[in-house]
Amino acid sequence: MKTQIKVPLFDLNYDEHEEKEILNTIRSKWISIGPQNEKFENLFAEMLGVKHAVAISSCTGALHIALSTIGINSGDEIICPSLTFVATANSIKFVNANPIFCDITSIENPTINPEKIKELITPKTKAILVMHYGGFPCSMDEIIDICKKNNLKLIEDACHAPLSKYKGRTIGTESDIACYSFFSNKNISTGEGGMIVTNNNYYNNKARLLRSHGMTSLSYERSKGHSTGYDVVELGFNYRLDDMRASLGIAQLQKLKKDIQRRMELRKLYIEQLSEIDELVIPFKDQMQFSSNYIFPVVLKDSNYIERGSIRCYLSKKGIQTSIHYPAVHQFRIYNHQYYDLPVTEYFASTEITLPLYSNLSEENLLYVCSSIKEAIYKSRNEKKTFNCESN
Ligand SMILES: Cc1ncc(COP(=O)(O)O)c(C=O)c1O
Repeated sequence: MKTQIKVPLFDLNYDEHEEKEILNTIRSKWISIGPQNEKFENLFAEMLGVKHAVAISSCTGALHIALSTIGINSGDEIICPSLTFVATANSIKFVNANPIFCDITSIENPTINPEKIKELITPKTKAILVMHYGGFPCSMDEIIDICKKNNLKLIEDACHAPLSKYKGRTIGTESDIACYSFFSNKNISTGEGGMIVTNNNYYNNKARLLRSHGMTSLSYERSKGHSTGYDVVELGFNYRLDDMRASLGIAQLQKLKKDIQRRMELRKLYIEQLSEIDELVIPFKDQMQFSSNYIFPVVLKDSNYIERGSIRCYLSKKGIQTSIHYPAVHQFRIYNHQYYDLPVTEYFASTEITLPLYSNLSEENLLYVCSSIKEAIYKSRNEKKTFNCESN
């Protein structure tokens, strides 16, 4: 018999606000890109304090547009982490460039290691593509400095990091282009969706063209009489966000700060409960800055993927959903034809467990997760027990 899920990994914070916004859009009878997109973009740009925000149908599309916009060409090298979602690296392939995978700094700070970035720079390197793991910022000062000294562009995969701070500065505001995701389990959920932000007028104009076939006007503008025809000036894509999703995004933006504040309180409680477990490392444990807290990762010390699998099965049997962020991208079959020396990434990727975190996670359930993981580790290390998921 299948165990019932008691604590899911993620839960959507939707209520009547999202219902009202989407209903209004449906009733307006304009459901593709239009006024809700414009409103969503303006609110997003204002929230981050950037000049431009361009709504896109996904972050994968946003990353593709970002790399096309900054002029990446065939054979160029882009340095990026391997500890990320595969879309980060795939977007580099979409523009016929080569991802050069870089190790993370440490188990405690699993963001791209600036010292290792320096070792990977060659005459072919054109950009660095960073990812703010779990919403916790990369070492931006060092990375910006490397980009300036080597004349490299900087793109941020900020999917996990809306409103996160780095030394008091807002993530996503200091690079050439930053990209966000609104996939259902993200801090801002629209089902599918993404955003490009930039302070550069040229990048903004180019991204707008590329998102809609390189056309000089949108059908909404034409329907309002703002233009009668269009030209096609770039080889663009259809990466438009529809107005139904944009209206969900508008409702989600209104909740974001409060949602994050609650996540921060829950994270504090997790840390209080789990710090005493010697066998666990809690990444970014001492990070006190405002952070999106997209996920709550823990890493098993002196462990491997077999024990990690066993502990996840024990939790699963207790009705607790967990995940892995992430399998190392350079070990996937489409990327593993080349040797990469990424020991920290490989250890992290095989021993990390993502525990449930979302603003409406009850403290009771959080404590249940903590006591269950303590039990699992005790049984694994002291009683030498292993668990499998088969009877689940
Ligand atoms: C780090 C990272 N990059 C890129 C993506 C791709 O985003 P999307 O699903 O919106 O295309 C995700 C989404 O899971 C992500 O977590």
